[in-house]
Amino acid sequence: MKHWTIEQVAWDRFDPAKVEPEVIPLVKAAAMVERNGDDYALYLKSVFKDDPDFQQAADNWAVEEVQHGDALGKWATLADPSFDYPAAFAKYREGFKIDVKADASIRGSRTGELIARCMVETGTSSYYTALGEASEEPVLKEICRLIAADEYRHFKLFYDHMKRYLERENLSFPKRLRVALGRIGETEDDELAFAFHCSNDPPGLAYDHDRCLAGYMGRAMGFYRFRHIERGMGMIFKAIGLEPRGRMADIAAKGAWRLLCWRRDRYRQALAQQAVANSESASLARAA
Ligand SMILES: [Fe+2]
Ligand SMILES: [Fe+2]
Repeated sequence: MKHWTIEQVAWDRFDPAKVEPEVIPLVKAAAMVERNGDDYALYLKSVFKDDPDFQQAADNWAVEEVQHGDALGKWATLADPSFDYPAAFAKYREGFKIDVKADASIRGSRTGELIARCMVETGTSSYYTALGEASEEPVLKEICRLIAADEYRHFKLFYDHMKRYLERENLSFPKRLRVALGRIGETEDDELAFAFHCSNDPPGLAYDHDRCLAGYMGRAMGFYRFRHIERGMGMIFKAIGLEPRGRMADIAAKGAWRLLCWRRDRYRQALAQQAVANSESASLARAA
């Protein structure tokens, strides 16, 4: 059961004057990844094929993720009427394939799969909170608040199922930690970078992982504040079975914040270099 519907969003409050241009490419890319939730649910249902409770939960979860994609896609189309959300998503789905018939989790165990899901929901919950707080545009603010609340509920959903499997599979702490760190590291793989390509690059421009990742991260990382990382670290600690509000979580949050700031600045540098290269090739084209 959904906790809100697209129709309930006050779309008539959309204010183009308050749209921050740097946010538009991010919302377009996020719409791709969210909309792809239904394929991920097929994968999850295949991995948990003998668990009807979890299968039902995965179906309900996917309905919400797809709605996140559609709401973000609708907002991006208001902000940039030239954006073709269905066409961009068709391109994404064609090029980014999930193994929807997997027999077992790519994480090595069901507990591991659920910990990886907790990492994703931690990331999305923090991200939409940060984006919503930073945005001045009232409709985007409202959508981000609604989505962030869903993502936090998703975290709790996967966490509860994870606890159930942990009792059965008894996955050791080092293995839980490895899955969690591994999934966090995958943020820089193709999922987001390719989503950025499909939703932002002009037709004919080839996919370039590093360029697209910088395009996404160089903008997205600027919205985080320490409080978002601190809260996210608490969720990560909880998912791997550590005290979420202790001294260790505090130290880890400070370390993660420093790492994020360093990565953010490097991505911004790459973005600035791209802008210089683009303007140089534009002036060469004009001169020719
Ligand atoms: Fe989502
Ligand atoms: Fe979610």
